[in-house]
Amino acid sequence: MNSFEKLLLQNKAWALETQSEDPGYFDRLSKGQSPEFLWIGCSDSRVPANQITGTNPGDIFVHRNIANLVVEDDINMLSVLEYAVIHLKVKHVIVCGHYGCGGVKAALSSDNYGLLDKWLINIKNVYQENREVIDSIGDQDAKANLLTEFSVRQQVINLSKTDTIRRAWEKGARPHIHGWVYGLKDGLLKTVYDIAPPVKEPAYAIL
Ligand code: CO
Repeated sequence: MNSFEKLLLQNKAWALETQSEDPGYFDRLSKGQSPEFLWIGCSDSRVPANQITGTNPGDIFVHRNIANLVVEDDINMLSVLEYAVIHLKVKHVIVCGHYGCGGVKAALSSDNYGLLDKWLINIKNVYQENREVIDSIGDQDAKANLLTEFSVRQQVINLSKTDTIRRAWEKGARPHIHGWVYGLKDGLLKTVYDIAPPVKEPAYAIL
């Protein structure tokens, strides 16, 4: 059997099992979604949003790209953000990086990755801005892990500057933006940075 045929077979088994365990399951989910979270994560196959957070289909709206970047002119990411924040009204936006990220390691090296270099420039910039502290570390993996944390913080800041987030914050106290890093070695999530919606100043009458 081909590997892709196995996927189709496993899908049949999963659908049957799910349906028999909870007969209303597909009916319910097919009516709509109201997830509380938007997840911006790395495309890495080892960091699936639902599995590592113990959540289910319908719980998390997901966008993934190489090294979980928030790039100001990425219309794909911006559209997902706009839909999740303005239409689905998610309460939390989570940027989730991970230690051992191939994209971050590539950005640290001077190797040529062709087309990918255009994307990796965004992490390379974060490296430049924090070069002194990152270069003070000898170990290559530890260096990449620290850059991962700096990058996640930068992506959270980038999010806070988007038009979508600013409009949402003007209207109300939502969403809260979180920067997390996932450990491939222990399966644990760690908070590295977060920005709560700004507390509104009391409104004074304009005289
Ligand atoms: Co990665």
